[in-house]
Amino acid sequence: MKHDTITKATQTVSGTVHTNRHHDSAEKHVTGGAEYCDDIGEPRGTLHAYLGVSSVAHGLIKSMDLSAVLAAPGVAGVLTAEDIPGVNDISPTGLKDEPVFPKEKTEFHGQPLFAVVAESRNAARRAAELAEIDYEVLPHALDPLEAQEAGHPFVTAPLKLERGEIEQGFSGADHRIKGQIKIGGQDHMYLEGQIAFAIPGEDDDVVVHCSTQHPSEAQHMVAHVLGVPSNAVTVNVRRMGGGFGGKESQMNLFAAVAAVAAKKWNCPVKIRPDRDQDMTATGKRHDFVVDYDVAFDECGHIQAVDGIFSARCGYSADLSGPVTDRALFHADNAYFYPNVRLRSQPMKTNTVSNTAFRGFGGPQGVVAAERMIEEIAYALGKDPLEVRKANFYGSAEDGRTLTPYHQEVEDNILPRLISELEETAEYQARRKAILTFNKTSTVIKKGIALTPVKFGISFTATWYNQAGALIHIYNDGSIHLNHGGTEMGQGLNTKVAQVVADALQVDFERIKITKTTTEKVPNTSATAASSGTDLNGMAALDAAEQLKARLTDFAAEHWSVEPETVIFRNNMVQVGQEVVSFSDLVRKAYMARVHLSAAGFYKTPKIHWDRSAGKGRPFFYYAYGASCSEVSVDTLTGEYRVERTDILHDVGKSLNPVLDKGQVEGAFIQGMGWLTTEELWWDKAGRLRTHAPSTYKIPLASDRPRVFNVSLADWSENRELTIKRSKAVGEPPFMLGVSVFEALSMAVASVADYRECPRLDAPATPERVLLAVERLKAGG
Ligand code: MTE
Ligand code: HPA
Repeated sequence: MKHDTITKATQTVSGTVHTNRHHDSAEKHVTGGAEYCDDIGEPRGTLHAYLGVSSVAHGLIKSMDLSAVLAAPGVAGVLTAEDIPGVNDISPTGLKDEPVFPKEKTEFHGQPLFAVVAESRNAARRAAELAEIDYEVLPHALDPLEAQEAGHPFVTAPLKLERGEIEQGFSGADHRIKGQIKIGGQDHMYLEGQIAFAIPGEDDDVVVHCSTQHPSEAQHMVAHVLGVPSNAVTVNVRRMGGGFGGKESQMNLFAAVAAVAAKKWNCPVKIRPDRDQDMTATGKRHDFVVDYDVAFDECGHIQAVDGIFSARCGYSADLSGPVTDRALFHADNAYFYPNVRLRSQPMKTNTVSNTAFRGFGGPQGVVAAERMIEEIAYALGKDPLEVRKANFYGSAEDGRTLTPYHQEVEDNILPRLISELEETAEYQARRKAILTFNKTSTVIKKGIALTPVKFGISFTATWYNQAGALIHIYNDGSIHLNHGGTEMGQGLNTKVAQVVADALQVDFERIKITKTTTEKVPNTSATAASSGTDLNGMAALDAAEQLKARLTDFAAEHWSVEPETVIFRNNMVQVGQEVVSFSDLVRKAYMARVHLSAAGFYKTPKIHWDRSAGKGRPFFYYAYGASCSEVSVDTLTGEYRVERTDILHDVGKSLNPVLDKGQVEGAFIQGMGWLTTEELWWDKAGRLRTHAPSTYKIPLASDRPRVFNVSLADWSENRELTIKRSKAVGEPPFMLGVSVFEALSMAVASVADYRECPRLDAPATPERVLLAVERLKAGG
């Protein structure tokens, strides 16, 4: 083909970067064509496991009689601590505080103590009920305050962040407020529950199909529990039906049980708990009790903050260390604290071990920051938005850029973001109208709030910020893409394939997105901390560029032209005056023995963190956003609804605006659910009573804001060299739900003419809203 025909090649390829493209599995999701773990065909002879659990919150196991379990129909056998061939531990931090099955002691109600393995799931599930377990009951403490009273230890080392002169900050201040806010936890409520399906192989080998955000961790845990090297274990996941952090470490138990049973009986074994067991036996978002002490001047400028963040960590450390650390990292939200001391108290409690959940402690820090802002605003009789603006991080010139962990905020775009949203949401006019409405409306009261978010992007465990990818180009020109990230609905695979399509200038459809497997990319990090696209997109780009360079060198040599004249565009490659199709070039390169497979790698630059000093640059950059919500509250019942929400969110230069918008909407709704209706409730015996959708209320379609305007800040571009200057989107918009909580707070405050900041804990269920209203009406 001659040069004049390349004009055709100036059109762009389909589905490249910075364009809208639906999720690669969207149609399969809704038609049932998408394969999840439980859809994998079961070979004949597959056995099914089910967990037998503790019925006390804390106790010594005096005896465990499983004879009735073993005698039940269809039962092949049981697994207890005695059956673990390797190490009886699945703690992700290596603290050895999380047995697969405990031997002597149970530490929470619902703790797995053994597994039944049977011919069917139902048989295993029924048999698990027949165990006779005798306990010596020990005292228990369920929440962080009870745990402190009972003298429980921390599950992991606490963190302290400090900057400035805290005592001086307080002593010179005009005003000082001390308060406390309780912030509830949250269940992940993924649509697809936990599941693992293990198939034994020869020697020590085992393949585990598992719904997990962290295949490498599942692989290492299975190896550890089986007492075999990691190279004997393969973990696969094509996709998850949601993870939200709940499959970052919580799959370990299921992967380990399935693998141990598969090796013991030498046949495939599947384990899939029902929803109630999934909710009781796996960890959740940490509840926090935050004690704050804040000093400020007449204008509402914060002068000093002292905060203690006590968390319900559950019986083991799991990820509570980094979660409680991140709560402190976000306890400033968007605000400069001239003098600050923040301390975490990761409390050991007799509850399920809490874990990662979208935001990873950050949201709890943000809620505390926003409560302090509200306290100041009500104390001074100001609009909270005015106080927010007065405290934003500033510029290098005004010396207001240093966070409590000594990282500079260099790119604060919040002033612009907030003023744009204030305009488009007509905040000022609507607030005025609401103040007028509340004066005359006796039963229905309204509230409005505009809240910001600033979220740090990177794993604070610096070594996690690495990724690998593997690309093969087959000699027919089709492309096989694999990377270490996992797909849980967020669209990671779509975005990474877009990056590769763009780099090689081929149609998106040419790229086969494949399952994540530890066989192809080793030592991967969890798909978490919102960094899936940042890390894996860059690793895939590296692999694609290596291949492109090899093809370019080959073409230049083959056609005797300079490499600079080789241009890839729209499924074609221009080589000097010639134009060949991508497939033809690949075919020729193959015949000339060019290596058509490449492994890519990426590690995030610039970051470092010294935990003992509490100083460093844990985050590569920040993502920003803001939301404005209006609510109406029935002050006789506490019921409310969200009338309108406007969001302006920063995703840098979006790789795929429609997917990013979907993430912003979903995250907002999940954040709103956390702060409004999703209540976890344990009875005095330590039994979780909200363990199914019947008792645990996630937002319904009918709970969404009546008017919901979501926009991306399309002018934003990441100043750091991230993948195509985009920004992470998975977690930051979760905290936009705070605007609903603060709007409810304003509606409640109206009953006492806004003289007082309401004592409203989260979640602000209708019951809590009503109690807060009644308390204010009764005089505080
Ligand atoms: N979106 C969907 N649909 N399902 C999920 O489970 N998890 C969230 C977010 N968005 C999640 C989701 C969480 S907790 C994180 S950390 C990110 O996706 C992880 O993916 P990413 O890093 O590729 O954004
Ligand atoms: N979110 C944020 N930070 C993290 C996570 C997460 O899920 N996991 C480890 N660090």
